[in-house]
This record gives sequence, C-alpha cells and structure tokens, in this order.
Amino acid sequence: MDKLVIHGPTKLKGEVTISGAKNAAVAILPATLLIDGVCKIENLPNISDVKMYCKILQELGVKIKWITENEVEIDSRNINCTQAPLDMTSKFRASYYLLGALLGRCGTAEVGLPGGCNLGARPIDQHIKAFEALGAKVEVAQGKITAKVKKLVGNSIYMDIVSVGATINAILASVLAEGTTTIDNAAKEPHIVDVANFLNTMGADIRGAGTDVIKINGVKKLHGKASYSVVPDQIEAGTFMLAAVASRGNILIKNCIPEHLDCITAKILEIGGSVEDYGDSIRVSMNKRPNKAIVKTLPYPGYPTDLQPQIGVVLAIAEGTSTIHESIWESRFQYSFELNKMGAKITAQGKTAIFEGVKDLNGAPVYATDLRAGAALLIAGIIADGETQLYNIEHIDRGYEDIEEKFRSLGANIERVTEPDEK
Ligand code: UD1
Repeated sequence: MDKLVIHGPTKLKGEVTISGAKNAAVAILPATLLIDGVCKIENLPNISDVKMYCKILQELGVKIKWITENEVEIDSRNINCTQAPLDMTSKFRASYYLLGALLGRCGTAEVGLPGGCNLGARPIDQHIKAFEALGAKVEVAQGKITAKVKKLVGNSIYMDIVSVGATINAILASVLAEGTTTIDNAAKEPHIVDVANFLNTMGADIRGAGTDVIKINGVKKLHGKASYSVVPDQIEAGTFMLAAVASRGNILIKNCIPEHLDCITAKILEIGGSVEDYGDSIRVSMNKRPNKAIVKTLPYPGYPTDLQPQIGVVLAIAEGTSTIHESIWESRFQYSFELNKMGAKITAQGKTAIFEGVKDLNGAPVYATDLRAGAALLIAGIIADGETQLYNIEHIDRGYEDIEEKFRSLGANIERVTEPDEK
C-alpha cells in the first residue's frame, strides 16, 4: 500500500501542465463502443480509472493499441460480449456509461451497480428513466442493471434533476436511435460538451450540448476514421489554482480553458487572490491570508462539488468564519474530520460546514476518504508545518495524473512510500 509523506510548509511556485479531463475520458472511452470503426484518442489522462476502462473494453472484444501513455487507437468493430465484468465495473462510478453505450450499439447491456467515491446515496433513476423513454426495459436485481431493447426510438426526456451521468448516458443511448431525442434540463458541464464533440467528430448529430436542451438526431452509423483530443481537466486546473491560493504561492497553470474556470476565478478574487488569464493558461497567486467566504456547490456553471474539499483547505486557514453549502453530495465533508486532525476548526453537519479559520495547519497522519478529499489533504500537507502522512492514496491515483510529480515541480517536498501490507 502506498502513502505520501509530505514535509511542509511550501509556497508553491512555477509552472504546471494540466492533463486531459478524467470525467470526459471515462465517458469517451465507453462512447467508442458506438463506433463501427477505428478511432484515435489523444490527451487521455494517465490515471487508473482510464486503465481500468480500457481493460473493460478489451473484455468486451474491443482492440486497444497504446501509442503513448496518453494516446490510444481503439478498434470497436467486433464486440463479442455485452456483459461487463462485474468485479471491474463495481470499482468505479463511470462504469454506468457502459449501459448507454452497449444499449445503443447492441440493444442489450448488463453492468454491475456502479461503485466509485463514497459521497452518499448515488441514485441512477434518471439514467433508467432515459433508457426507458427510448424504449428499453431496465431491471435492477442481484447487484446488476440489465437493459434490453429491440429498437431504440428517439423521444423527449425531461431530467427531474440536473445529472451529468444521466445526461451523458441519454446521449450515448440515443446517438444511433431512430429519430430525434430531446433532453430537457440537461447538465452543462464541459465534459458533456466534450463527449458530444467526440461523437459528432465520429459522425453523430448532437446539437445544443453545453445548454440545458440537447437534441440528438439519430444516425445509422458512427464511422471512426478520426482522432480526438480530450479537453483539459477543469477540476485538475481548479485543484492547482486553489493550491496556489492555499500555499500563498504563484503558479502558471498551462493547457487549461479559463472560461471553464470562471466560477473558481470569481471565488479566488473574492478571497483576495489574483488570477491572470492568458487564453490557454492562467496565473494564480496569493500573498496574504485568504478572506472568509461563503461557497455553495451547484451544477455547472456554478461552483463545482469536485472542488469543494480543495476550497475547504483554503477556508480552513482563512481570516474569519466561512461556510460551505454542499448541494450535490450528502457525504462530501468527510475530509473535514481529517483536516481537523491537522488543526483546522471545521464543524460539518449534513450538507453544511462552518470553517472557523485558523492561522496554520500542522502535519498529521490523515486518510484520503475519496478522490477529491485526497487532493485537498495533499494540499493541506503541503501548507502544514511538519510531516503529513497521507494514506489511501489509491483514491487520488484514480483521477490525477502524476500528481506528486506535478506538485514536486512546484517545490513541494513529497515522497511516495510503499508500505508492506499488514498481515
Ligand atoms: C459526475 C462526476 C462527479 C461529480 C458529479 C457532479 C463523473 C464520472 N463523475 O458524477 O465527479 O461530482 O458529476 O458534478 O463524471 N442524481 C439522482 N438521480 C440520478 C442521477 C443523479 O438523483 O439518476 C442526483 C445525485 O444523487 C446528485 C446529483 O443528482 O445529488 C448530481 O449527480 P450526477 O451529476 O449524476 O453525478 P455523477 O454523474 O454521478
């Protein structure tokens, strides 16, 4: 089992290059199942969720050739199975995209109930509602979801809740359906636009992605024969922006899309930081203790829930008392108990947490409770006095490429240590 040993405090300074977006990659990979051909995907993040997805695709008969560690050629012409291996799909959330993709391609899919970060209840009723609207019969039993249809037919789908996953799954299932599908109250996250752009590059006809009404005119076939580069990771870029602020540093964040980061930029300016926009990179700096703030997480373009723990670290050391309202996931404050071990004063109850700002954090042994909590605790270790030992870092490896190397290049003192498993 690996752990990270961090010695702080460090003011992070230098340049960092953002990788391809995890949440786009884990939707684009299953989307290749809809292609009757060979396509190339570039700028894939080198993370364990991507590796796992590629293994699952191989189990289904897809041929995958790695060109570099960030670039693959995918040949989905021959799929020989529509039952995704349960032991693999149960490990992460995005395995639910296999349902929409296999249903669209083969008219049948069997996928284990998705796993992933433990953020509280993670229902999939809107996914099921979308498949049923297109004519599928869906059954959830014995830990798996089975969907079957003779022919998918386009329809109107109104999402009761703005859901990233359900919006993408509805797109995947309707791309090859007969006729037109309309998704109302669709999610608008940058990776939804990226998945739509990928599919359109391969011959789909999807309009309106990035707005709350998406129209999909079904096509007969997706051809492949094209390359696609995954969009830069909004959440990774936001993580480094908040690390610059928390550490009172100065970081040039390259290969990002500043408009995807507007909601984070606005918060950083509010708490006293500085953000300069250079078109495809941004510089974030901070030279004082952050001001207090009120943060409420919301679907895009609101403040992202996936950057909530990271701004939690900033507010833990801010001047005055701050509040975070988490409106997406009910158990997203687990990191606060770990931060309190480092000297923070956070009281979390339900979907609200109060941060009584302290001047400094102190190193301590802490546990990554989920992916973004892990990134937040890593930042906390970098700014804390003394040694922090960060455990359960497999969560972080699921979603951040070379994270300790990137932070090391900004001056952080981090070492990955492999500990023998306890017997
Ligand atoms: C995706 C992201 C995750 C991020 C989340 C919110 C991926 C792989 N994961 O997760 O990192 O935290 O968006 O930005 O892209 N809901 C329902 N019924 C459903 C689906 C969702 O009630 O059928 C609720 C959820 O409980 C949650 C809210 O809708 O409260 C948003 O969930 P959703 O956008 O679907 O999150 P994911 O796609 O699972």
